[in-house]
Amino acid sequence: MKIEGKEYRTIWFENNIVKIIDQTKLPHKFVIKDLKTVKDAINSIKIMEVRGAPLIGATAAYGLVLAIIENNDQSFLKKTSEELINSRPTAINLKWAVDRMMKKLSGVNSNEIFNIALNEAKEICEEDVKFCENIGINGLKIIEEIYNKKKGTVNILTHCNAGWLATINWGTATSPIYHAHKKGIPVHVWVDETRPRNQGANLTSYELNEEEVPNTVIADNTGGILMQRGEVDMCIVGTDRTLSTGDVANKIGTYLKALAAYDNKVPFYVALPSSTIDWNIKDFKDIPIEERNSEELSHVEGLDENNNVKKVLIYPKKSKAMNLAFDITPAKYISGLITEKGICDASEEGLGKLFK
Ligand code: MRU
Repeated sequence: MKIEGKEYRTIWFENNIVKIIDQTKLPHKFVIKDLKTVKDAINSIKIMEVRGAPLIGATAAYGLVLAIIENNDQSFLKKTSEELINSRPTAINLKWAVDRMMKKLSGVNSNEIFNIALNEAKEICEEDVKFCENIGINGLKIIEEIYNKKKGTVNILTHCNAGWLATINWGTATSPIYHAHKKGIPVHVWVDETRPRNQGANLTSYELNEEEVPNTVIADNTGGILMQRGEVDMCIVGTDRTLSTGDVANKIGTYLKALAAYDNKVPFYVALPSSTIDWNIKDFKDIPIEERNSEELSHVEGLDENNNVKKVLIYPKKSKAMNLAFDITPAKYISGLITEKGICDASEEGLGKLFK
């Protein structure tokens, strides 16, 4: 995807350093940051310089490459892999990527381990790019169908950032949108602001602007009335963990949007690469839901009149706040899952048909 006309990926490896786009600085500053040690990688995931399920998986994979540069002893790698997995609990891609790396690295001798780790981390990224591109090609069919019936701009609502910035390229929820836009289908995106960290306003709107896709930021509570007015043709969101039952964990607020879509008969799709499927947990109550610092709610950051980034308190000083980062959308509210292998019902049967 492009930033000021130049193609970027969200993560790459250069001269034994992992390069990332620091997402805590967006949209006001575009900063490329160096991760030099595995501790840097863990911290970057925790403080959300990198975020989004596929991207934190890729960062963890490269984190293990950085760990090997420091110390390629298997016991150090085992301990480090656990720290990486625990750096954010909800997105399953983190564990998926670390397990995949560790499987490849177990028993490998010290002469070969670095190259094998680097190739595998690169492969995880390349695979994600391909999967996200295929999600776009598959999801495009739904947008095209709506366009052919409506013969007018297709209005798509999305929540959080399941875009290019959350993956390596293309995004999941945004990939069908970018594919439609590139094909000349008129699309307009309603971007949920996505409190408390504003990934919609800060990141999704930013990347859509850079790709010149028409979009409008709305407060998180606006989607309902837009659906009642017939101003939303479909919703597409991403996911941090999809169970084999079709239940989906995603950014807090996704569930309420799915309820409103269901009530208004607006199709509600979830886009995901297979690395986001948790084949083990069957009951959504067993999904660990990350609780983050309440300061993310009580403080907001923005540009002051001198164009300096400033953080201010917006709550009464004595107020307590609670910051759950994800919620669960039960499968019954989901019209379909858009994956790299095709579109399926959000169900054991649907996923089973695509992924044996
Ligand atoms: O807390 P974040 O910003 O990492 O949450 C991201 C999301 O909820 C995305 O929708 C999800 O990771 C899918 S990204 C393709």
